[in-house]
Amino acid sequence: RGSGNDQQPLAGLNALITAGPTQEPLDPVRYITNHSTGKMGYALAQAAKALGAAVTLVSGPVALPEPTGVNVVQVLSAEDMFEAVQRRFASADIAVMAAAVGDFQPEHADAEKIKKQGRADLTVRLVSNPDILVWLGAHQRTDGSQALCGFAMETEDLIHNAAKKLLAKRCDMLVANDLREPGAGFATDTNVVTILTPAGNGKGSSGGENNGGADDDGADDNGVLNQQVH
Ligand code: CTP
Ligand code: CA
Repeated sequence: RGSGNDQQPLAGLNALITAGPTQEPLDPVRYITNHSTGKMGYALAQAAKALGAAVTLVSGPVALPEPTGVNVVQVLSAEDMFEAVQRRFASADIAVMAAAVGDFQPEHADAEKIKKQGRADLTVRLVSNPDILVWLGAHQRTDGSQALCGFAMETEDLIHNAAKKLLAKRCDMLVANDLREPGAGFATDTNVVTILTPAGNGKGSSGGENNGGADDDGADDNGVLNQQVH
């Protein structure tokens, strides 16, 4: 698809990329977030643009300059990001979900600042956020003309956990990060990733490592091809 050439292989294609953390408000002055800096998603947006794609970057709050020539949509909460992505997915040929989306939000965001006086402790109940990537996987074009790439951040059992996400979220590709790997993790200029693709999709059928391990959780490790990328 598209009108790509050697210099601009993504010419004629729309890329939708998410980046950064989300902010889940507790009250008008406080929120829950994570360590994401947005570097990965912003670098991908820049790269996709350089390869000729028309790029929309849906970004949580980060301290990075907007990449030139990219349509940047700023959001705060996971729900806002979900809405922004939902609205743009139908016209996206490539969707790359690099954002570190908050999995939970406070059940109630107080309208006024929560005061400490008279409290020895504070309990906040969190409720789950929508999973944007799951929604995308379930609403892909039926003709296979959309490519869906997810990410996974893990601190243990990288391949096993990432393979489960690849299948559960129906991605064409999943980029697995091990937070503990030297040169990887948040706020680094480098990363160490393993790229997983579903077996049998013809997108690379040799050299896949077999990470073994028979189990019964539906993540068939043998059904996933992967290659190390540094
Ligand atoms: N993701 C998303 N919406 C969410 C949570 C995650 O779209 N509410 C996307 C991320 O952008 C990433 C992928 O799903 O591409 C995996 O995110 P990750 O946090 O690693 O996995 P989760 O499925 O949220 O599972 P957990 O955090 O429990 O490991
Ligand atoms: Ca998560």
